[in-house]
Amino acid sequence: MAETIGKNRKLKLLLVDDEKNLLRVVSLNLAKRGFSAHTAVSAEEALIFLSNGGYDVIICDLRLGGMSGIELLSKVKEDDKKRNKNTVFIVITAFGTIKQAVEAIKLGADDFISKPVDINSLVETIDLALRRKNYQKIDNFEIQNGSGLNENNIFKDFIFKSSAMNEILNEVKITSKSPSNVLITGETGTGKEVLAKVIHILSGRSGEFIPINLSAIPEGLMESELFGFEKGAFTGAVSGKKGKFETANGGTLFLDEIADMPLSMQVKLLRVIQDKEFSRIGSNDGIKLNAKIISATNIPLENAVIEKKFREDLFYRINVLHFKIPPLRERKDDIIPLANFFVKKYCAINKKNIGGINDSAINLLKNYTFPGNIRELENIIERAVVVCTSDSIMPVHLPKTLTAETERDAKTKTEAERFQYIDSDSENLDNEININLDGLEMELIKNALEKNNHNQTKTAASLGITRKRLITKIKKYNLFSDK
Ligand SMILES: Nc1ncnc2c1ncn2[C@@H]1O[C@H](COP(=O)(O)OP(=O)(O)OP(=O)(O)O)[C@@H](O)[C@H]1O
Ligand SMILES: [Mg+2]
Repeated sequence: MAETIGKNRKLKLLLVDDEKNLLRVVSLNLAKRGFSAHTAVSAEEALIFLSNGGYDVIICDLRLGGMSGIELLSKVKEDDKKRNKNTVFIVITAFGTIKQAVEAIKLGADDFISKPVDINSLVETIDLALRRKNYQKIDNFEIQNGSGLNENNIFKDFIFKSSAMNEILNEVKITSKSPSNVLITGETGTGKEVLAKVIHILSGRSGEFIPINLSAIPEGLMESELFGFEKGAFTGAVSGKKGKFETANGGTLFLDEIADMPLSMQVKLLRVIQDKEFSRIGSNDGIKLNAKIISATNIPLENAVIEKKFREDLFYRINVLHFKIPPLRERKDDIIPLANFFVKKYCAINKKNIGGINDSAINLLKNYTFPGNIRELENIIERAVVVCTSDSIMPVHLPKTLTAETERDAKTKTEAERFQYIDSDSENLDNEININLDGLEMELIKNALEKNNHNQTKTAASLGITRKRLITKIKKYNLFSDK
């Protein structure tokens, strides 16, 4: 049964870790915030303490000298049953041991926190766990709580069937309430931003999801974009402006293409994450950071760290929880559900009535390697829906590169072969419809460029062609950006 803590009653906390230094630092910091915590250097010692009376919250390292944190967890659960209690149990994990944390949560732990233990995150984690158990809110720690979450709604536009994605989603659900920073990696077009939104919604934060694409912002403007500025902070600052940290407060800040953050900004980001505080440019007033930070990249950050292009300390800070989205070719079970989803989507947009995808087209899609991943699949289906005049999508509606490609020859394909949309030599298509194919190609490229903000690498990936090929087409149709 949940217990309600009276206003004046102090929480009883027990901290268990075999690192005496950690015990000292964490209990000191908790004391500064008005909490008194008992400490135990082993699970065995913790059990002796427990036999003398229960605790409201136990914070315990998973790896201890003798009895493990997991064993202590199960003993606490047994004891809870006998005493009709509901102790909050939070596990401390070492960097990179997320699987163990997930295991602990499955076994009944309430949440986890990673080393190095950040005191703000710890208090936040305790607060959330207590609230979930209907305790009263502790301290004045402000956390926004979303309402009326409906999983069906969240996953309505998030399509997957593969066991790989299912596993990721399970981990996302289990860890979604944790304040830890999240890193999402995966090739271009695998759905990193979509997953970040899912995490934001599941986190229950009532604030907004604020994305910022760091590769699209010139170095000189990045600081003011992130921190905001006060009126008169620099020439031209005629009025103050909120930065992304501020707008995202209470919600989630999505730092997209984090590898492109210049080193000078990386130091500043590290400071914000460590201090949980920032100020607008031209102001000394500290603003509390209360945004969940999710970063994403499609390049391996470990390599950038080795090459000294990315700070190692920042890497560890943003990478507490890591979700790696596999490329579409490694989760083929998702291809057809996604393709069907896109058929429906683009039928609705184009006011068409297409029943589905026929078997031979399904085979082609299943055997294609999708270098541009889901974005490329979406584009292929969008285009197929536009050109299709029959009641199902057939191979003739798909780019020739699919017809030609098998996984074996995909690697040896020449550039010229990669971009072969159905041409005027496609008799089947000519019989079916009578359209200006150059015009169609131009329209498709124009749309793809607009969708991808004229980012040539992304546009090319979404079309499944090389960037060089795209540039040739941009020149041919005069599709230069006028931005
Ligand atoms: N699971 C999914 N269900 C439905 N649509 C998806 C899914 N994953 C991705 N998409 C769609 O695929 C496209 C690419 O997704 P997204 O922008 O999240 O990819 P990304 O990994 O961030 O790409 P990039 O690295 O190029 O920024 C989007 O149009 C998105 O709506
Ligand atoms: Mg993205």
